[in-house]
Amino acid sequence: MLTRRTFFSKVLAGAAAAALAPADALAMPGRAGTWTGRASLVPFGDVPEDEFWKELRKEFPIPTEEAFFNTGTLGVSPRPVLDAVIQHMRWVEESVAHWDYKPTQAEWMTGYQEEVWVREKLATLVGAKTEEIALTQNATFGMNFVANGLALHPGDEVLMTNQEHPGGSMGWQLKSKRYGIYVKQLPVPIPPEDPQQLIDLYVNATTPQTRVWAIPHVTSQLAITFPVKELCHLARDRGIFTAVDGAQVVGHLKVDVKKIGCDAYFSSPHKWLLAPKGTGFLYVRSDRLEEVWTTLASTEWDNHRVGAYRLMQYGTGNFSVLKGLEKAIDFHMAIGSERIERRIRGLADRLRSGLREIPGATIRSPTHPALTCATTVYALDGWRAEALMDALWERAKVRVRSMGDPWGVRHCCHIYNLEEEVDRTLETLRAMGAERR
Ligand SMILES: Cc1ncc(COP(=O)(O)O)c(C=O)c1O
Repeated sequence: MLTRRTFFSKVLAGAAAAALAPADALAMPGRAGTWTGRASLVPFGDVPEDEFWKELRKEFPIPTEEAFFNTGTLGVSPRPVLDAVIQHMRWVEESVAHWDYKPTQAEWMTGYQEEVWVREKLATLVGAKTEEIALTQNATFGMNFVANGLALHPGDEVLMTNQEHPGGSMGWQLKSKRYGIYVKQLPVPIPPEDPQQLIDLYVNATTPQTRVWAIPHVTSQLAITFPVKELCHLARDRGIFTAVDGAQVVGHLKVDVKKIGCDAYFSSPHKWLLAPKGTGFLYVRSDRLEEVWTTLASTEWDNHRVGAYRLMQYGTGNFSVLKGLEKAIDFHMAIGSERIERRIRGLADRLRSGLREIPGATIRSPTHPALTCATTVYALDGWRAEALMDALWERAKVRVRSMGDPWGVRHCCHIYNLEEEVDRTLETLRAMGAERR
């Protein structure tokens, strides 16, 4: 029988235990954030699959009777992440008088250092080089930094879809109003039937004036997974800059920015990576960094030798949330991106198969395997979207999010969800459907 203690020593030894020890924050190494190498994570091949996920669920502070399926809005940080932030914040407040500004001393705040220790981990996570990663507060910052930073001129065109989240698109609209560029919104067929339809949308709308393709990796409302790799390679052949909105992706699907071949990629780790709220990053491919002016200017705004650090001149920031972001990456890596993706896609497949058996239930998100992910959007005959959302909560403590009518509710499966929570949702939907037929 696996006890919680052996589970952690086997599975999450470094990621969890290091954060839990109060001494961790106080005994910070000479230079803050220097990786201590404590997280030597042992593979967990010998832990039975279902036992593993049930044990892991205990690391999340969501009450056991509540099934949380709204990661698309905000993820839930596991205890090691939460503890890392809280302990570090306490340490900052208690020990700030010890700060003597010597180069060997720990740092109490972020905003004036390169923060290589955490950028390096983000880079490893998404297959980038450290100097290509800028820390931001979220995806919205990343999108704005790219849109604002590129030198575009009246008449230049930016293509995007009509499915963008405002945090993936409005920076381009601002640029259009202010500088006279032309933003074309491509109408996505709902639901798209195959990846080729989405590729054709961009290719057919491109003209000699097209400078940028802004591409959502997974859309917010209907969870459409775009063929980003194919699109970015087609754009590259045409000399077009690609900016990919990965807000819904990092921590969800495995991301390798080099394989995708995009020029810029931004995300919000406080969603699927389960990081502290208010964390984000922007990747800009090294050979295109020179083209992006910084939006925020402080000491190093014009230093082109520091890579993407030039794009994170944000002034005083909260170092403690970066400690939490680091732990969230460790936690994710300890389990593994592929394993997480396999698990949560499996839960979503279970949900989709169940929905197909329920009279009156309609899946609104795509069903072509290449366009699906761990998020499903569905409607139920006789139920308005908001009433459906509320009833699932009131009857079964299942939290999904209304996407409005006629779309229904968005249901995101993550590693804190269990098969029984998916099954409970399906049983409740079946009963609700029967009531209104
Ligand atoms: C696809 C997409 N892009 C951008 C955003 C904006 O994210 P944030 O508010 O974290 O910047 C969201 C938020 O839900 C999103 O789903």
